[in-house]
Amino acid sequence: MRIAMIGTGYVGLVSGACFADFGHRVVCIDKDAGKIAALQRGEIPIFEPGLDELVEQNVKEGRLSFATDLPAAVKEAEVAFIAVGTPSRRGDGHADLSYVLGAAREIAAALGGYTVVVTKSTVPVGTGDEVERVIREAKPQAEFSVVSNPEFLREGAAINDFKRPDRIVIGTNDRRAREAMTEVYRPLYLNAAPILFTERRTAELIKYAANAFLATKITFINEMADLCEKVGADVQEVARGIGFDNRIGSKFLHAGPGFGGSCFPKDTIALMRTAQEAGAPARIVETVVAVNDARKHAMAEKIVAACGGKVAGKTIAILGLAFKPNTDDIREAASLVIVPALAAAGAKLRAHDPQAMSEAAKLLRGVEMCKNPYEAAKDADALVILTEWDAYRALDLDRLKRELKQPLVVDLRNIYRPEEMMAKGFRYLSVGRAAVGQVAGS
Ligand SMILES: NC(=O)c1ccc[n+]([C@@H]2O[C@H](COP(=O)([O-])OP(=O)(O)OC[C@H]3O[C@@H](n4cnc5c(N)ncnc54)[C@H](O)[C@@H]3O)[C@@H](O)[C@H]2O)c1
Repeated sequence: MRIAMIGTGYVGLVSGACFADFGHRVVCIDKDAGKIAALQRGEIPIFEPGLDELVEQNVKEGRLSFATDLPAAVKEAEVAFIAVGTPSRRGDGHADLSYVLGAAREIAAALGGYTVVVTKSTVPVGTGDEVERVIREAKPQAEFSVVSNPEFLREGAAINDFKRPDRIVIGTNDRRAREAMTEVYRPLYLNAAPILFTERRTAELIKYAANAFLATKITFINEMADLCEKVGADVQEVARGIGFDNRIGSKFLHAGPGFGGSCFPKDTIALMRTAQEAGAPARIVETVVAVNDARKHAMAEKIVAACGGKVAGKTIAILGLAFKPNTDDIREAASLVIVPALAAAGAKLRAHDPQAMSEAAKLLRGVEMCKNPYEAAKDADALVILTEWDAYRALDLDRLKRELKQPLVVDLRNIYRPEEMMAKGFRYLSVGRAAVGQVAGS
C-alpha cells in the first residue's frame, strides 16, 4: 500500500516506520521543516528505543521517506493517516482540533483518486464527521472515506506495541475503507492481533475510554497508597494482592507521584468535557483529574516535609524528569509541577535524566542539569527519585551516601526496598510504605 503519514511526531514516526517495515511504501510528512531535514539526514528527533535502526533500515530499503510536501504525498497515497497533535485547548480543556482539521483541509486540496483518510490522532467523538465535512466542503467531487483508527502505543515501548498490539480498532462502515484498512494491517492480522471493526464514533470513544480507565486505575492505587501510609499497610503488597485477580489485573497498579505524559492528562480532561456537553457527566473521570492534579502538589509537600518542613537554602537532587522511563517526553511530567514548587519554596535544584534534560532545561530554568546521578547528589540535602529509569534502579548506594550531605532519599517510584535503604544508613521515604531510617538531627 502507498501510505502518507501526516504528522511525524511520536505516533506518526513510529507508525510510519512500522508500516514501512511491514512492506508498505510510506512518506512521513511534517510541516516542521527542521524535523524533516533532520530525518532526511538520518537523525531521529525523538528518543524511542529501536526507532533509529528501524528508520535507517526502511529508508535504506526505499520504503520510507520524509517530506514537507503534503500534496505530493497525498496524491500518490491510497491511505492518508492524520497523526498530528491534539493538545488541550487553552481555557476549556477540549481537544484542540485545529491541527487535525488543518491537515484535513490540506488533504482535501490534494486528493487524487479514491483515498482512505484515517484519523490516528486521539480525537473526540464526532471528529470523523467533522473531517468528512471539511473535506467534502473543500472538494465536493472527491472520492474518499474517513476512518477512525486510534493508536494505543506507549512511548518507550512504541515499536513493540505497534507491532504486537493488544488490538487494532478500526471505525468505519464503508466496505472499501474496511478492505483498505485490512490490507494496511494484514501483516499484524497474520500475527493474530485482534482487529475490532466498529462504527466510527465508537472507535473514537474507545480510545478515550481506554485512557480514562487506565488513568483511573493509577489514581485508585495512588489513593490506596495514601491510605497505606496512614494505616501502616504496604501498597506494593496491596497492589500484588489485588492484581492477581484476573478481573483487576496487575498492570497500572504502581503507586507514584501522579500520572503525566502527552496523553492521559489531556485525554481525561477532553473526555470530561465531551461527557459534560453530552449531558452524561463522567464523574469518576472528573474526580481522577482533580485527584491527580492535587497529588503532584502533595508530592512537593511530601518532599518539603521529609526535609524537616523547609527547603529554603537547601539543595535537592532530582533523578528523572521525563514523565516515564525510556522517553525524552516531559509533557505534563510530575517534574514540571514538583521542581518549580520546590524552587518556589527556596530550594536549589540539581537534576539528572538519561534523555530528557535538554527538553526539561527549556522549561525548568535555574535547575542545574548534571552529568550523572552522583553529580546531582553532590552535597545535596535530599535525593528525590521522580522517574523509574533502569539506570536508577541499581545505584551504588555507598557512593550515593558519600555524595549526599544528608543521607535522605525520597523515592516517589518505590524502586528501592526500605530494609535495604535502612541497612545502608539512609532515611528513606517512598509511596504507600512506611518511612524508615533516621538522619542526624531528625
Ligand atoms: N504520544 C503518544 O504516546 C500517543 C499515543 C497514542 C495516541 N497519541 C495521539 O496521537 C496524536 C499525535 O501525538 P504525538 O505525541 O505524536 O504528537 P507530536 O506533537 O509528537 O507530533 C505531532 C506532529 O504533527 C505535526 N503537524 C501538525 N500539523 C501538521 C500538518 N498540518 N501537516 C504536517 N504535520 C503537522 C507537528 O509538527 C508534529 O511534529 C495525538 O492526538 C495524541 O493524543 C499519542
